[in-house]
Amino acid sequence: MIDLRSDTVTRPTPLMLKAMMSAEVGDDLIDIDPTVIALQEKTASLLGKEAAIFMPSGTMTNQIALRCHCSPGDEFLCESQCHIYNYEQGAFAQLSGLVARTLEGTKGLLSPSQVVGVRRNDDDHLVNTRLLCLENTHNRGGGKVYPLELTDRLCNEAKAQGIACHLDGARLWNASVALGCTLEELARPFESVSVCFSKGLGAPVGSCLAGTKELVRKARRARKLFGGGMRQCGYLAAAALYALDHHIARLEEDHRHAKELANAIAEFPAFELMDRDPDTNIVIFRIAPEWGTARDFADRCRDKGVRVMAFGPQSIRMVTHLDVTKTQIEAACKVFREVSKMA
Ligand SMILES: Cc1ncc(COP(=O)(O)O)c(C=O)c1O
Repeated sequence: MIDLRSDTVTRPTPLMLKAMMSAEVGDDLIDIDPTVIALQEKTASLLGKEAAIFMPSGTMTNQIALRCHCSPGDEFLCESQCHIYNYEQGAFAQLSGLVARTLEGTKGLLSPSQVVGVRRNDDDHLVNTRLLCLENTHNRGGGKVYPLELTDRLCNEAKAQGIACHLDGARLWNASVALGCTLEELARPFESVSVCFSKGLGAPVGSCLAGTKELVRKARRARKLFGGGMRQCGYLAAAALYALDHHIARLEEDHRHAKELANAIAEFPAFELMDRDPDTNIVIFRIAPEWGTARDFADRCRDKGVRVMAFGPQSIRMVTHLDVTKTQIEAACKVFREVSKMA
């Protein structure tokens, strides 16, 4: 089976497993796990932040970041299609008593004019506007990358109003490879950054939240509260460290594969690509109702050995990753050509 549903479906490579099995570990909650410390220090340094903290998931790093920046009754701003708003069960409301205000983006990206004057007045009738959250790359935006200059302008505008900035950088590695800039440059405008090792980098589990030492100290308390404290998690940190050393530069290959998939889909008038030339490793397209539904397309592909995700009634998402070779991409394109004629 060629699995293009997500870049989270990868399995650890033999060398990654070897690194995990030889990790030096300890109890990360009682005192220290040396491999976790090494991962946290390396991640903080790559992102140009004072400190970082390892957690089980990107959902947890995002939600704990919101909790560190905001208090119950506060409001944060985010783009309407972002992961934090759409795919985390409204945890910001359930767990931290926060209100979200969504702004409509273009392929997930906001423009600086949308942030001008966005802070609510200091008035007892109103919630306090505390935080702006951006997502880079943008999942529902088809893996869209935020240009450096745009994040700078958005964050400067927010900061001028006393609003802090958090980045959901689950796939920030992809953005850095696509733009040819450093992770530190991408992270610079933000007070906190969440990154995932379990997506394009191919580790089985884990994310880090990076920011000031003070923010990370608060995050460590919240991680315990949310049940995210882990014991000998150095085995997992070892996989993430291995991924940082070996799996970033190769993302360029995934981006090339995504362009090949997009080229195949573009051959059929019944399919409309969100981006004819995807920025990174995600391809999203709409299926004309006359052809059928996204479920029809996904089922027909699965029957021919290719898994894709029905992302909505008429839309499909495909994600390239470490476990899909060039030969498999070519095989998948062949299947799309066969399936597309089945309307
Ligand atoms: C942009 C983005 N942020 C956060 C997450 C959440 O990560 P996790 O599944 O590790 O909770 C995802 C997951 O796909 C994501 O795509």
